[in-house]
Amino acid sequence: MNHIFLIGFMGAGKTSVGKALSTLTGVNLIDTDSLAVEREGRSIPKIFKEYGEGYFRRLEYLILVNISEMPSSVVSCGGGVAIRDENIKLMKSCGKICYLRAKPQTILKRVEYSNNRPLLEGKKNIEDITGLMEQRVHYYENAADIIVDVDDRKTLEIAEEIRCLVDF
Ligand code: S3P
Repeated sequence: MNHIFLIGFMGAGKTSVGKALSTLTGVNLIDTDSLAVEREGRSIPKIFKEYGEGYFRRLEYLILVNISEMPSSVVSCGGGVAIRDENIKLMKSCGKICYLRAKPQTILKRVEYSNNRPLLEGKKNIEDITGLMEQRVHYYENAADIIVDVDDRKTLEIAEEIRCLVDF
């Protein structure tokens, strides 16, 4: 299996870049958040509220195990997938990891009006986003086979860069 896993902070553009990359390459697209919603029959805020974050993290791991057995795909990962060593190990065993790196300012612009991210509720400001990002950046950087900066760039341009960097 030779998946390409897109990781990075919430709002970095993993879903939209994943769609563009899938269209460019003809490779199937998988989105871990969508699979979680599908499996549970409820939204991500509801999963967090009713079962807690720990449950969601276990669910993400089980979803990754399933994905690891699927044909090669572009996998758009939820922002917390790459903060667990077991997930990173699993992703590395069946593909390459691409970190979409964004500045807090870029993230804030993209998440400002969304209400679908429980971890950002009441935290949609530069200080809180910077703080949460600082806790995660080293996981993202250590996990990454490829790092692509996304600030002030168009989705298609980012997808084209990834296509050039990865063997499809
Ligand atoms: C999370 C990111 C979200 C979603 C959940 C938790 C995180 O996905 O999985 O709200 O911990 O960073 P996106 O990165 O697609 O927003």
